[in-house]
Amino acid sequence: MDDKTPVEKKPISRRRLIAYAWIGAAAIVIGELIFGTFAFLWPRRKGTKVETVFIVGKVTDFKVGEVIPFRKERTFILRTEGGFLAMSAICPHLRCIVNWNEVLKKFECPCHGVKFNRNGEVLEGPPPRPLDLYKLQIVAGNVVVDRVSPIERRKFESSQVIKI
Ligand code: FES
Repeated sequence: MDDKTPVEKKPISRRRLIAYAWIGAAAIVIGELIFGTFAFLWPRRKGTKVETVFIVGKVTDFKVGEVIPFRKERTFILRTEGGFLAMSAICPHLRCIVNWNEVLKKFECPCHGVKFNRNGEVLEGPPPRPLDLYKLQIVAGNVVVDRVSPIERRKFESSQVIKI
């Protein structure tokens, strides 16, 4: 065969073209499924700078029984009869951000549908422990939360409530 002879191109059959199209479509669907699964399971992160020690308000700003969310700081403040509890909004399972459901009076994790009671204890589902606590102090009538070192716990105990 001469080097200058043009190479004869074999026409692709219709059947083979359709097979390639199906393989391509299947690859896209499988890729979407894998990506979607990981995106669902992976915790959401936002790049906002948040204070680690902050004043949530005056003691008198909170009503007994109230749960107040501090979204940016990913913190919930619970005012009890005896005092205050500062809880992390980060789920101890895979670190999704939990929400407070005022109607049901429960915390809910959107990632796996888990519920926590108002003290942060797991009611159902996979989290290994209650919502973590943050250090809380009453300083000159102000409620101050320190998020530097979250405190893990096995269950709620009344000694965790910071007395007024
Ligand atoms: S991340 Fe799984 S229950 Fe919250």
